[in-house]
Amino acid sequence: MTESDNPFAGYTRRKFLNDLGKAGGAGAVYGAMGALGLFAAPLGAQPTNFVPPGQLRRGRGGSGKHVIVLGAGIAGLTAAYELGKVGYKVTLLEGRNRSGGRNWTVRGGDTETETDGVTQMCQFDQGEYMNAGPARLPQHHVTIDYCRELGVPLEVFTNQNADAYYYNEGSGFGPLGGEKVRHRTAKADLYGYTAQLLAKAADQGALDIPLSDADRELLIGFMRSFGNLTSENKYEGSTRRGFRVSPSAGSQRGEVDPPFALSELLQSRFGLRFAFEFGWDQAMLMFQPVGGMDAIPKALENAIRPTAKSIYGAKVSGIYNTNGGVRVEYQDNSRVPKQIEGDYCICTIPPQILKNIPSNFSAEVVTALGVPTPVSTGKIGLQYRRRFWEEDEKILGGITGTNLNLSTIWYPSHGYLGRKGVVVGYYNFGPNANFYSDLDPRSREQEALMQGAKIHGPAYINELENSFSVSWIKTPFSEGGWVGWPAPGGERVPAYDLLNQPEGNVHFAGDHLSYYIAWQAGAFDSARKVVMEIEERASA
Ligand code: PHE
Repeated sequence: MTESDNPFAGYTRRKFLNDLGKAGGAGAVYGAMGALGLFAAPLGAQPTNFVPPGQLRRGRGGSGKHVIVLGAGIAGLTAAYELGKVGYKVTLLEGRNRSGGRNWTVRGGDTETETDGVTQMCQFDQGEYMNAGPARLPQHHVTIDYCRELGVPLEVFTNQNADAYYYNEGSGFGPLGGEKVRHRTAKADLYGYTAQLLAKAADQGALDIPLSDADRELLIGFMRSFGNLTSENKYEGSTRRGFRVSPSAGSQRGEVDPPFALSELLQSRFGLRFAFEFGWDQAMLMFQPVGGMDAIPKALENAIRPTAKSIYGAKVSGIYNTNGGVRVEYQDNSRVPKQIEGDYCICTIPPQILKNIPSNFSAEVVTALGVPTPVSTGKIGLQYRRRFWEEDEKILGGITGTNLNLSTIWYPSHGYLGRKGVVVGYYNFGPNANFYSDLDPRSREQEALMQGAKIHGPAYINELENSFSVSWIKTPFSEGGWVGWPAPGGERVPAYDLLNQPEGNVHFAGDHLSYYIAWQAGAFDSARKVVMEIEERASA
């Protein structure tokens, strides 16, 4: 996957400030930069717009007001948490019997019934888990600030590993089609040849950019270092690509294979996978909570216990603006119809589900809820009795990228050198996710094993103990991994802006109402935005 595959990352902070500058002049940019917290940080740093606890408060609206929060995912929990800090009474309704929403860490004993009625029970050993939803945190996301505030311990998540593989099969990939190649090997050769070409072109004055003689020499020096070129600016292979025979003691200096041919490498398309790790949100270092991503919702759940009443198994069946407040109808686990009244509602129910819940929302709002499209994504956790990827292949964490229907294989970034481990046997989107989603759990496992064995050999099949697979499009209360907004001309549509406005006393929140879709950061930011809006209204 490359940056251009990412439909969400189109609108950058810089573009936002540029557009704002066009619309409102430098003053507007200055003000917005202050609001985004851009002045506080040293030049070059990339701050989040996190405001420390207590400072989110704008007024005194909280005292006495009652807010009904729908959904105990990250957005709902965060809303309840921030409201609780400033004195609101909160009732949190959640359809599932657990918190976290898509932030779900699957462990042994967990059961889930997909929307077609198929139930799985996870059989992972104690201590083993799979983060079925979010699984990697960039350093600059507000999520990290909440982990700090809530005391959620983090460890490194290995998003790139030089020793993981690239693998493309099928016609059109040349001689390297159907071959697994280590990231380091593909990079060493492709960087090497690219550097050679650029150094040669610079040396011959063939570059169509103005370069002084001094700069040309500097560029060539950079290329020599970048590609590991000879003093004649040639790429002749490199230990960077890895050894066939490892260096060792005494006379064993190690043996390196000659590089692949440039044409082979170009045909393999491996180079198209390099850009993934250049992404704003995908570059190392990345992080994960120790013991599972659900440490975040668990910590929020604890933090709101004193100030919020949380009702689990509460299925919302109606949302109504009333004179001066809101009324929410729901059924709890006892199936008895219930209703509660509040001054405001924060609704984090995904739009594709909310659009079918009875309400007295305007026709425009209901139509807007149907505009974003749910995205299909899924994962399978494969529990192995032996860490063959570590023991046999020397891969300690990281991700293998393929053009197989599994897309990616993730090796665990924790429990290294342990006995067992859970590998994510597929994490894919769109058509590949739908392909697995349409299979029953056993067939998902068989297909994932057959595909993965192309890379890891028989151990991938023989060492398996059990598996658990998740299809987000078929998971009740989510019905999608995230959503995509139509973006004609790169801009979000009016429906997005409409849902970012309150409908009467109902404020909508969730990652789908942010420019961080498919990241918990979007849910945190959206919750903080609506809490601020309610504070402003309540204290006006
Ligand atoms: N945050 C998710 C991930 O890192 C989904 C996503 C993928 C979002 C790629 C943006 C780009 O896998």
